[in-house]
Amino acid sequence: MIVGVVGSGAREHAIATALARTAEVVVTPGNPGMPGQSDEGHTIRCVDVDPEDLSADLVVIGPEAPLVDGLADRLRAKGLPVFGPGASGARLEGSKAFMKDLVARAKVPSARYGTFDDAVRAERFLETLDGGYVIKTDGLAAGKGVLVTRDIGEARRDIRDKLSGVSFGDAGRRVVIEEAMTGPEVSLLVLCSNTEAVALPAAQDFKRILDNDEGPNTGGMGAYSPVPVASDEVVELIMERIVHPTLLQLASEGIDYRGVLYAGCMLTPEGPKLIEYNIRFGDPEAEVVLPRITSDFAELCLAVANGDRLSPPTISPQAAVCVVLAAHGYPGAVRSGDRIEGLEKTDTVEGVRVFHAGTRHDAQGHLVTAGGRVLCVSAMGSDLVRARERAYEAAALISFDGVQYRRDIAALATQTSPKPR
Ligand code: AMP
Ligand code: GLY
Repeated sequence: MIVGVVGSGAREHAIATALARTAEVVVTPGNPGMPGQSDEGHTIRCVDVDPEDLSADLVVIGPEAPLVDGLADRLRAKGLPVFGPGASGARLEGSKAFMKDLVARAKVPSARYGTFDDAVRAERFLETLDGGYVIKTDGLAAGKGVLVTRDIGEARRDIRDKLSGVSFGDAGRRVVIEEAMTGPEVSLLVLCSNTEAVALPAAQDFKRILDNDEGPNTGGMGAYSPVPVASDEVVELIMERIVHPTLLQLASEGIDYRGVLYAGCMLTPEGPKLIEYNIRFGDPEAEVVLPRITSDFAELCLAVANGDRLSPPTISPQAAVCVVLAAHGYPGAVRSGDRIEGLEKTDTVEGVRVFHAGTRHDAQGHLVTAGGRVLCVSAMGSDLVRARERAYEAAALISFDGVQYRRDIAALATQTSPKPR
């Protein structure tokens, strides 16, 4: 089987790597880390073609933007099996207001909210919330459009900057305001074939740029799996109260959802509640979840694309931890073109795989930084402690000017004993 993958980040690198255990893979546009052969002898190639011209037996669409833009619908119209929802299902991520309204109809536990395009009404709603304020752009903002604060003055300023278009352009001209929930967060990636759903092992990611969850939000600075607080019972509750009701609601509204549904959940004192849905694999969650799948991932993606029955994949008992190396300036204006050294040395650390996020070759053929998140160093190990040691050992071998990475990825989790899933 030949599988086409659309995208160019570390997530797509992890997807291509998982697929290449059993299939030939062709990625558009891909990145410099991808081309090569898997241990099983399958090839990953990068081609720079329009995704609509990919010739493949299955197409897996990585990022949210082309899904929101209806790429899955256009490929399906040509008769291709596609992993990824059509534009109607992709609105779960493309519009936070649509998502919140849909899950409210499905009675899914989630934060109290209001949707506003008028600052006066928005600020009046703020005053009804006590404790914390969460302000979100309605539209896509690369994971950076959310402010969580206890300072009502900051919340007011953020509302004005978003609604006026100053901070996020059109994506912010409508905002969703929510009450702040508390508790540990869990990302559950669920493969969905219409109303059938199979959960992959839970992961946790680290959204803030600095240690101890300080500094602004990013696309994600690291992740780990399994998650000690996400026991089998917790995962079952999330499936029963959050994912299944959502899929039934989608189906009842005529939306056939085929792809991955990423449920970002908070384990609150009242039980798991939904924070957000994404309609694609998490980045960097994919870089720790996909390496743990030991069964045929390409076949599973094909079953999802065809709307077939899904058999749960087998999962390695090993743990995985990834650390993202980001460029100078991230998550603000980033500098690119910094030369990356030491990548080849990471081969000496067992269980490590470096996924490229934002790299390119310069005119002299050197690998240089070319994006906010540059590399994702992912490591497997017998438990989280071992996987974490390996990821950090490998990260320390790589250098480029201005490199930033968190030192506390999976630190708390390694202080409790993981219950693998
Ligand atoms: P989102 O893009 O919706 O996932 O939000 C980004 C991050 O903001 C989440 O991972 C949470 O850490 C935080 N967040 C979002 N909504 C809430 C909420 N209602 N209460 C507390 N934290 C939230
Ligand atoms: N890691 C968060 C995301 O993929 O949105």
